[in-house]
Amino acid sequence: MANLPNEVSRRRTFAIIAHPDAGKTTLTEKLLLFGGAIQLAGAVKARGEQRRARSDWMKVERERGISVTASVMSFEYRGCAFNLLDTPGHEDFSEDTYRTLTAVDSAVMVIDAAKGIESQTLKLFEACRLRDVPIVTFINKMDREGREPIDLLSEIEQQLALDVTPASWPIGMGKTFKGCFDLLRDRLFLFERGGKQDEAEIEIKGINDPALDSHLKPDEVARLREDVEMARGLMKSFDLQAYREGHLSPVYFGSAVNNFGVGELLAGLAEMAPPPRVQHTTTRDVAPTEEKATGFVFKIQANMDPKHRDRIAFFRLCSGQFQRGMKMLHVRSGKQINLHNPVVFLAQDREIAEEAFAGDILGIPNHGNLRIGDTLTEGEALQFTGIPSFAPEYLQSVRADDPLRAKHLGKALEQLAEEGAARVFRPEIGTDYIVGVVGALQFEVLADRIRTEYGLPVRFEPTSLHTARWVESDDAAALKSFLDETRASMAKDHNGDPVFLARNAWHLDRAQADHPKVKFLKVKEQP
Ligand code: G4P
Repeated sequence: MANLPNEVSRRRTFAIIAHPDAGKTTLTEKLLLFGGAIQLAGAVKARGEQRRARSDWMKVERERGISVTASVMSFEYRGCAFNLLDTPGHEDFSEDTYRTLTAVDSAVMVIDAAKGIESQTLKLFEACRLRDVPIVTFINKMDREGREPIDLLSEIEQQLALDVTPASWPIGMGKTFKGCFDLLRDRLFLFERGGKQDEAEIEIKGINDPALDSHLKPDEVARLREDVEMARGLMKSFDLQAYREGHLSPVYFGSAVNNFGVGELLAGLAEMAPPPRVQHTTTRDVAPTEEKATGFVFKIQANMDPKHRDRIAFFRLCSGQFQRGMKMLHVRSGKQINLHNPVVFLAQDREIAEEAFAGDILGIPNHGNLRIGDTLTEGEALQFTGIPSFAPEYLQSVRADDPLRAKHLGKALEQLAEEGAARVFRPEIGTDYIVGVVGALQFEVLADRIRTEYGLPVRFEPTSLHTARWVESDDAAALKSFLDETRASMAKDHNGDPVFLARNAWHLDRAQADHPKVKFLKVKEQP
């Protein structure tokens, strides 16, 4: 039996957040390369293309060149077991991303040195802040002309209201980029274009060590010392606790495509990033080192193979140790689930998991019995909290081209709703289904999937609906009178929970004003 506290403390489960094009894919690939999980750079993309070539259910993904699906990659580095959760970057799929962020213990925020904070960086950062996820920043593309480092740091500080501390400091930029000085570990890293993964690190005893002069030109050394002095004067110094509480972000500079700064970033994560956190449930907090295994499902992904409707539930182990063949209690249904063949995710392949520890992510194949937000335990009736569901911003009705197959459509929609791909509402009056999504592009993806996976051509049609809100109240009588009065605007979601469908902003305001005891929720916790 492995030593549980030891296994837990060496785990680092994290995600990369970035605005599209900042270099997330490139950095992911380099991290895997450094972690020995892949042999050749280029594999992340190649694998994506191969996958796309194999299956046609994600035509939209291929046509638009965006990544709709997220995955998990595990690798080892310097004695730590890393689990990197991929977050889809396209803004249309942010709901999946938000949920993925509930399953990580820290994040790396990638910023393009020429662009600074961009719209998607901001959104994703806000999602991290909701849970005080600790963030390490990686300023990428230093091999190109970008903005002044100090400018970038103040922008992060001001726009995100987040303290920053330089973990490394760049020497020059673009054509004159020479490397970085690691301020936390007193090392000089010299930049080499197209460099290999083992960048030479030169030990230097502090920024004033004369040894620096033998590696850099006098004006470079002078500038470096001046910059660092200024940065140290302006910024906070590193404080592990402040970082782990999500209030302070250490910032690295590098160039992912040139393998530069990646090793430092990983070493930084190994040293500073938090091991699996304590997780909250409706009844008590669960520590990762508790003997009994517990965890929750944060994402469901349909099988890539259109002929099979199996789905993979992504399960974050929150405590204890998992062993293959183990039975776990599915708390929502009260049934035991036998976990024969859950998978762990290595960069290029899936592998059957023999064992796993708190912090790890398992993929559990199932036929639809697992839903987002479900808790599994070794017997205790726990329910983990904090997995959000967002009110859709686009609502359309959907019909099967062949009316005789309406029942099949119902089944398909129900499965897609459980997967979290869309919200599906059954209005109290009428027969059409209303489908709600957070990004308009999702309707195309859904129509494509329903056609290819379920063999059902369907049509989405615009509705006069504006938005949806889950409703609840502590006052049962008030809720009942609201439901009776507004029946024509009410629907049920796939869990049977009541939802108010508003025709416009005024309609929603009016309902809220008329029914002060009813809560109209934009975000609901699963399940
Ligand atoms: P994303 O996943 O965040 O969207 O970004 P991705 O890694 O795909 O990178 C976006 C572009 O930025 C790519 O160029 C990539 O090569 C480039 N890039 C990444 N890191 C660096 C860096 O450190 N320096 C420089 N100069 N460029 C970098 P592309 O032309 O869009 O694609 P590709 O054909 O080069 O793959």
